[in-house]
Amino acid sequence: MPDTAAERPGSPPPVIAIDGPAASGKGTVARLLARSLGYSILDSGALYRILALIARRSSVACDRERDLVLLVAKIEGEIEFLPDPLEGSRPFMKGEDIGDAIRSERCSEDAARVSVHPQVRQALLGLQRSFRSYPGLVADGRDMGSVVFPDAFLKVFLEAGVDERARRRHRQLIEKGISVTIDEIKQRIVSRDTQDSTRAVAPLRPKNMAADVLSVDTTSQTAAEVADDLLEIARLRLAG
Ligand code: DC
Repeated sequence: MPDTAAERPGSPPPVIAIDGPAASGKGTVARLLARSLGYSILDSGALYRILALIARRSSVACDRERDLVLLVAKIEGEIEFLPDPLEGSRPFMKGEDIGDAIRSERCSEDAARVSVHPQVRQALLGLQRSFRSYPGLVADGRDMGSVVFPDAFLKVFLEAGVDERARRRHRQLIEKGISVTIDEIKQRIVSRDTQDSTRAVAPLRPKNMAADVLSVDTTSQTAAEVADDLLEIARLRLAG
């Protein structure tokens, strides 16, 4: 028997939307929440990154909107997300593990560039929504609550100061053996923030633009603390 409001017969699978700028901790918080609730996960940024990687390998420039739209079908046909103990899941393209390739700085920059095109965003909508399944989904990105899953029962906007975000990303890259300075990372984060928040379509929304979004500043909190707080709120809402 369904025992929560969001699980009543006829309800679509419940969604938690987690949006926020680069390196705000969205991915980690989303993974922790999904694990606690037994939900599946959509890392929508990974789809933009995969598209950027496919474009580069197909010699399609990031400003070729129509050509990029045609490449979206390749994501649907050639990409498989396989379970990964650390990251939740990893993307494979025709058997090749592309998990690290899509996290490169080059791919981060290209992903921000391909994501400015309205038709590319439109073409990715159906694919993103196909991740919605029972018992529920945690989706992270920039427009999860505003565009892709406007009926999400919990919408969160995660923020953190740019210095703290640069420190976090630096730590991640150093752990992967990639040598880079915090200043370089900070510059890239600021430039991606500007690109993501000033594009015409589905820009990264500041916290106060949607009344139903819970804004959380994670600068002085760990991802586990943030996830615990959100889990409590999610459970209360699900039971309501
Ligand atoms: O979350 P991320 O850093 O992996 O995202 C990579 C880029 O993809 C980001 O610069 C902007 C874009 N993106 C987007 O436009 N909309 C989303 N829902 C997710 C990511």
